[in-house]
Amino acid sequence: MHDILEQLEAKRELARQGGGQRRIDAQHAKGKLTARERIEVLLDEGTFEEWDMFVEHRCTDFGMADNKIPGDGVVTGYGMINGRLVFVFSQDFTVYGGALSETHAEKICKIMDQAMKVGAPVIGLNDSGGARIQEGVASLGGYAEVFQRNMLASGVVPQISVVMGPSAGGAVYSPALTDFIFMVKDSSYMFVTGPEVVKTVTHEEVSAEELGGAITHTTKSGVADMAFENDVEALLMVRRLYNYLPLSNREKSPLRHSGDPAHRMDASLNTLVPDNPNKAYDMKELILKTVDDGDFFELQPDYAKNILIGFARMDGQTVGIVANQPLVLAGCLDIKSSTKAARFIRFCDAFNIPVITFVDVPGFMPGTAQEFGGIIKHGAKLLYAYAECTVPKITVITRKAYGGAYDVMASKHLRGDVNFAWPHAEIAVMGAKGAVEIIFREDKGDPEKLAAKEAEYKARFANPFVAGARGFIDDVILPSETRKRICRSLVMLKDKKIENPWRKHGNIPL
Ligand code: HXC
Repeated sequence: MHDILEQLEAKRELARQGGGQRRIDAQHAKGKLTARERIEVLLDEGTFEEWDMFVEHRCTDFGMADNKIPGDGVVTGYGMINGRLVFVFSQDFTVYGGALSETHAEKICKIMDQAMKVGAPVIGLNDSGGARIQEGVASLGGYAEVFQRNMLASGVVPQISVVMGPSAGGAVYSPALTDFIFMVKDSSYMFVTGPEVVKTVTHEEVSAEELGGAITHTTKSGVADMAFENDVEALLMVRRLYNYLPLSNREKSPLRHSGDPAHRMDASLNTLVPDNPNKAYDMKELILKTVDDGDFFELQPDYAKNILIGFARMDGQTVGIVANQPLVLAGCLDIKSSTKAARFIRFCDAFNIPVITFVDVPGFMPGTAQEFGGIIKHGAKLLYAYAECTVPKITVITRKAYGGAYDVMASKHLRGDVNFAWPHAEIAVMGAKGAVEIIFREDKGDPEKLAAKEAEYKARFANPFVAGARGFIDDVILPSETRKRICRSLVMLKDKKIENPWRKHGNIPL
């Protein structure tokens, strides 16, 4: 008996060593943690239950039969984050560069299947040289099995990817199918084709970092949500993100009361919006002063900055925040901001998270770049996302809500549940100047007359009461009472239930 126990421990120890001390040292020298160290940081202490530690690959080509490492390059299992269940896989770069074999893929699929059965999120820590070259098509099949499960799990359990090393070729598509991607600066990169291929095909000279590093994907492409300085910071931020999320689409997010009173007023909000409608102000200030403890978990903070998205809590309840940012492009909606917000709203809708929208939008961005880039199709994504969304929707118009953008931004007509406006709100087809220049075109040569007409238009339309008179706005509220009014609305909407008509699936303009 004693022997068997010793053998078991020896086998476990072999698996724990992965590719051996030399490769572990090399991993550390790059500033990276090993697969197991990452799991230790991610999960509550002592909660990790490992599965498939003894799995080995089945490849016999290229001398692989004599070259087996138990665990086969990925550590899988489940554990807890702040006492809540989560499944995790962590690719081990010390074993064949974390390359994915058939059995490596089977291990990932196993925990994904289990996560869906019990209803718990999946977190993937990616650090891999891609398909295990020695295995050829068996490895490609393995990838596709993972992709299929990513799709099946989408909208069922939250999926989070942390890219902590290479992720290249078709391998990028597993993280891309998940809900959130975090990256680590200087040590992770994602691209479909690497710098060498790029050079051959397009003659561009570009480094791996520039082509697909964390900064590139969080500022230029929008592929990743956040970039962090090192592994530990990225993993601790995943823990924070996790706290906002429900375990599955069958559950609500956990309540975490902070002691911040729901009725807290903030008089400084009464002067947030400048008198001059062309002057910008920081919408983030409104968010921070409205949510519990000023704690806003902003996603994609460096991409499409004209819209803000992220999680916060209101009286303990997780909410998704979407807000136009007047500081950037005057808060206009363009291609990037529309897709950024649309995807976030769809996540919230899938996972029972109410959406709070702060509106100050002069319209959609004009120009050939936008039109040629398909703003019609991409703007429609945002419209579609708001229109299909059945979770509680609360909207606060702080200033401008012009034209189609008024309709899009969670208006009453798209089943907004509670639509507030601040007294400065201007809910109209367009700004007074533009409107007058169109309807009084024949008076173009008479600036005095035009100015009078502009003033008349402003007095008539640049306020919230025309919309209020039609019931498109439920109430005009004081800025200082925004938090209180939203919290009360959330209580009222707690058991909201509406359903969209049955269909196989809608056809969002992709
Ligand atoms: C098998 C691999 C491997 C792979 C790396 N290794 N990638 N083994 N299959 N794909 C092994 C190396 O042989 C080495 O083994 C160890 O992992 C570490 O690799 P190094 O090259 O020493 O590390 P580094 O210098 O950090 O470079 C990492 C790397 C490089 C950039 C990832 O290894 C690399 O370019 N690998 C090939 C990447 C690739 O072409 N993958 C296939 C892409 S196509 P030893 O024994 O020396 O430690 C693909 C298709 C997916 O993935 C399709 C899905 C639909």
